[in-house]
Amino acid sequence: MYNCGVIKFKNISGKYGSLVPIESKRDIPFDIKRVYYITDVSSEVTRGFHSHKRLHQILICAKGSVKIRVKNPNEEEVYELNNNSKGLYIGPLIWREMFDFTEDSVLLVLASEYYDEDDYIRNYDFYLEEAKKLF
Ligand code: TYD
Repeated sequence: MYNCGVIKFKNISGKYGSLVPIESKRDIPFDIKRVYYITDVSSEVTRGFHSHKRLHQILICAKGSVKIRVKNPNEEEVYELNNNSKGLYIGPLIWREMFDFTEDSVLLVLASEYYDEDDYIRNYDFYLEEAKKLF
């Protein structure tokens, strides 16, 4: 899907555990200005229900698993993140919903901009109007 897709990272693993390094502009296509993580989400909860106007993000399930539904006006896909060396890149004007969090899951997000509520589109009808100009 345009503006969305899986990125594989190097995983340095062995008997001492697992280490996944991620470098701005080298392993991902933007500079990281913000990092946040989501934990303790009940399995029946769905989060997200928004898109961003300009923000680029990478979602990584550092522990456990979670499913991400991504949409544009013409397509819809579901990705299961269950591997700490796999990231889902989500660019501007992609609608996202996160669900089926396992109890232990840690969803780590790398973002290209500081938090800005004005960059969110939370109304799905408005999202479709805006995204139809791009897709
Ligand atoms: P939101 O992005 O809506 O979460 P989700 O899409 O996972 O359901 O953010 C939830 C709340 O947290 C909202 O009130 C905004 C706030 N927030 C920040 O203050 N800083 C941040 O970097 C993020 C991502 C959210």
